[in-house]
Amino acid sequence: MEKLVIHGGTRLNGEVTISGAKNSAVAILPATLLIDGISTINNLPNISDVKIICDILKELGAKIHWNNNNEIQIDTRNITSWKAPTDMTSKFRASYYLIGSLLGRCKSVEVGSPGGCKLGARPIDQHIKGFELLGAKVKTGSGIISATTDKLVGTSIYMDTVSVGATINLMLAATLCEGTTNIENAAKEPHIVDVANFLNAAGANIIGAGTDVIKIIGVPKLKANITYSVVPDQIEAGTFMLASVASKGDITIKNCVPEHLDCLSAKIIEMGANVEYNGDELRVIMNSRPKAVNVNTLPYPGFPTDLQSQMGVALSIADGTSIINESIWESRFQYTTELNKMGANITSQGKTAIFQGVKSLTGAPVSATDLRAGAALIIAGIIAQGKTEVSNLIHIDRGYENIESKFKALGANIRRVKE
Ligand code: EPU
Repeated sequence: MEKLVIHGGTRLNGEVTISGAKNSAVAILPATLLIDGISTINNLPNISDVKIICDILKELGAKIHWNNNNEIQIDTRNITSWKAPTDMTSKFRASYYLIGSLLGRCKSVEVGSPGGCKLGARPIDQHIKGFELLGAKVKTGSGIISATTDKLVGTSIYMDTVSVGATINLMLAATLCEGTTNIENAAKEPHIVDVANFLNAAGANIIGAGTDVIKIIGVPKLKANITYSVVPDQIEAGTFMLASVASKGDITIKNCVPEHLDCLSAKIIEMGANVEYNGDELRVIMNSRPKAVNVNTLPYPGFPTDLQSQMGVALSIADGTSIINESIWESRFQYTTELNKMGANITSQGKTAIFQGVKSLTGAPVSATDLRAGAALIIAGIIAQGKTEVSNLIHIDRGYENIESKFKALGANIRRVKE
């Protein structure tokens, strides 16, 4: 077991380069199953969720070659199985994308129930409803999801709730199906556009990704030998923006799409930050204690739930009282218990938390309760007085590439040690 040891009180300063988006990469890799041939994917984040999908693809018969740390070649010409090992698929959330991809390719699929961060109930009823409307028979039980079909046929699917995972999964299943599929009330996150761009680069016919109606005109086959670059991770970029705000820092964030972060920029400007956009870079300068603000998490383009805990750290030391309303997940305030161990004054009940800003945090041993909570606690350790130890790094390593090296390059006193 490893932990991060942080000696805090640092004002972060300098440049950081953002990796490819985790939540896009974990969908594009399964999407290569829809191609009968070789795909090259670059700007791939080198994180444990990506490595496990690659291992699963190998189990299904794909050949994988890493050209370098962030570029992979996947040869899917000899897929021999549609059963993804349940012990591997239940280790992370995005394994559900194997359902849409394998249904599209093999007309049958079996995966373990998806795992991932414990954020409360994480139903997949909208995925299942969509697969059934497309003509699949879906069975769930004993920790396994299986689906089979003679033929998928395009149809209209109205999503009862805005779901990133269901939107992408149904796009995957509909790509090779007969006829046209309309997904209404679709999610609009940048990674949905990215997955559609990848599929379209391979010859799919997907129109409207990034709006709330996506039309997928089925094509009989996708073409091989494409090279595709994963979109920069807006959540990683947002994490460093909030690290700058919380540490009264000056950070230039490179290889990002600033417009994907408009909502966060607006909020941190309210908190007193100065934000500059410059092509694929943005800079966040903060010279004062953050002002208190209220935040409501929403689907894109609203404030992302995946930046809620990092924002919580900045608000824990803000001047005044802030309220965060978490409208996506039932249980995403577990990190506040850890922050209170560091001297924060946060009360949470259900989906609401009240942050009474304190002047400073003090280092303490804390545990990463989920991926984004882990990133938040690193920021907390960097701004706190004294020593913080963050344990349970398995969550952080699932989604952030080289996180301690990136913070170290910005001046943080942080190192990874064996427990
Ligand atoms: N929902 C349903 N039924 C469904 C699907 C979702 O009721 O069939 C509900 C969920 O319970 C939740 C809401 O709809 O209340 C949104 O869920 P969504 O399906 O959008 O989430 P997801 O696909 O499971 C992805 C990201 C999460 C991120 C959410 C919201 C991946 C692998 N995960 O999850 O990322 O929080 O979208 O943006 O893409 C993270 O990266 O730390 C993370 C948790």
